[in-house]
Parts: sequence; C-alpha cells; structure tokens
Amino acid sequence: MRLYVWILLALWPILSKAISAPLAQPDIDVYDTASLRRGAKLYVDRCLGCHSLKHLRYLRLKQDLQFSDAEFKALFPSLERITGTLTSSMASEDATHWFGVPAPDLSERARALGTDWLYTYLRGFYQDDARPFGVNNLVFKDVAMPNVLWDLQGKQIAVIEEVDSTPSVRGLKLVEPGALSPKEFDLAVADLVNFLAYAAEPSQLERRRLGKYVIGFLIVLALVMYRLKQAYWKDIH
Ligand code: HEC
Repeated sequence: MRLYVWILLALWPILSKAISAPLAQPDIDVYDTASLRRGAKLYVDRCLGCHSLKHLRYLRLKQDLQFSDAEFKALFPSLERITGTLTSSMASEDATHWFGVPAPDLSERARALGTDWLYTYLRGFYQDDARPFGVNNLVFKDVAMPNVLWDLQGKQIAVIEEVDSTPSVRGLKLVEPGALSPKEFDLAVADLVNFLAYAAEPSQLERRRLGKYVIGFLIVLALVMYRLKQAYWKDIH
C-alpha cells in the first residue's frame, strides 16, 4: 500500500500536468519526405521570418528533402550562401522591440518541448481581446507570438467553465472557418511539427541511410567469416 502511495507521488507531476492540459498527439514520421517537404514550405512561409533553425543548413535541407534546384530556388529566392544555416530575417533586438521577447531559435526548443506540445500549441490559439495581438494560447498562457496560422485555421474562442468559482478554459471552439477544414489544418500542422522534429536533429535521416549500408556490410562480413571458418576447420575435422 505504501508503495502505491510513493508511486503515485512520484508520478504526480506528470499526472497533474496531463490533467490540466491534455496534449494532442500528431502522427510524426521524420522519414516521410513528402510530409517534411510540406512542413518545410509552411515553415519558410510562416515561421522563418521570426524563428531561425541554427542546426539546419540550407544545403542539407535541399539534399535530405530531395528538392530540385528549381524547387529550392522557388523556396528561397534570395538565398546567397547555401552552406549557411536557416536564419530568420529579423534581428533579435527588433523582435524584442515588437514582442517584448526575442523569438527563440526553434531547433533546440523543438526537442525540449516535444512534438505533442508543439502540435497542441500551434493549434491552441484563441481569441482574447485583452492581449496585444488579440490571441491567447491554451498551453502557453499570455504568449507574445501572434497566431500566424489564423487564416488557415479560422477563429477559435475559448469555452470557459467555472471551477471552484474561478473561470478556466475548458476547450476551444471554431467560430469562423479558415481556408482549410479542421482536418486539413491538423494535417498541415502535423507536417510542420514533423519538419521541426527533423530540423532539431537533421543527422537522423543520414544515420538511417548509413545504417542500411552498415547492416549490409555486416551481413557480407558474416558470410565471409563463415566461409573462412569452414576453410580453417576443414583439416581438423
Ligand atoms: C512575427 C514573429 C513570429 C512568427 C512569424 C512566428 N513566431 Fe513563434 N514566437 C514568436 C515570439 C516573439 C515568441 C516568444 C513568445 C513568448 O515567449 O511569449 C514565439 C514563440 C514560439 C514558440 C514557443 C517557444 C518556446 O521556447 O517556448 C514556438 C514553438 C513557436 N513560436 C513556433 C512558431 C512556428 C511553428 C511558427 C510558424 C508557424 C512561428 N512560431 C511563427 C514570434 C513569431
């Protein structure tokens, strides 16, 4: 019995967090190149203006996601150095001026925050006229980022419920449709989060490619060793 109490206590931080803000779980597959390409495009269009990705080089992105020269040129029309890393065009002092806080580099944050959180966050903006950009967020209270996907998602409002006479946000409701249906929007955000999961550690694609060769090499090596063993032991038997 005491053991159960201890286990419950140990798990409490996780459990209580899960209860207060349940996180939605997207389908993430960093080996799905089509999804990564869609996510990359959305990122460049909507996020790169403010958020750099310092672990990801343009050249690597082009190779990993198999963009042709023409496709890559269309994605980054004014790119000068293909060996550089994905850098936002906004200086961090400007961001601090506009938003009160700098827009963080997302390569490390993506790993720290986790894909479930990112997915819930990007779908979790709702109207709140008390905030400077007119929006608040379900999992990031009083966030300083505007909802840059609102035209795709539409407008959401909070469903407020009184808990112990303090109002709290119970869920979100779409009150104005966006350019995408809710299902299409969720898929687009999942692509975006997938891209961020890849960008947090671009070498994971390379590792998998190399992995195939390593396994192939080991199989060949095992065959050679087996033949060698047979040859050595032939006279002894
Ligand atoms: C106009 C500038 C701007 C754009 C465009 C923008 N963001 Fe942000 N973002 C911010 C700022 C500023 C913050 C910091 C918010 C805060 O700390 O309150 C932020 C915070 C975040 C965070 C939380 C990071 C953390 O460390 O807690 C994530 C995740 C994020 N943005 C993702 C995105 C994604 C994905 C896009 C593209 C769909 C995007 N942002 C587009 C300005 C921007």
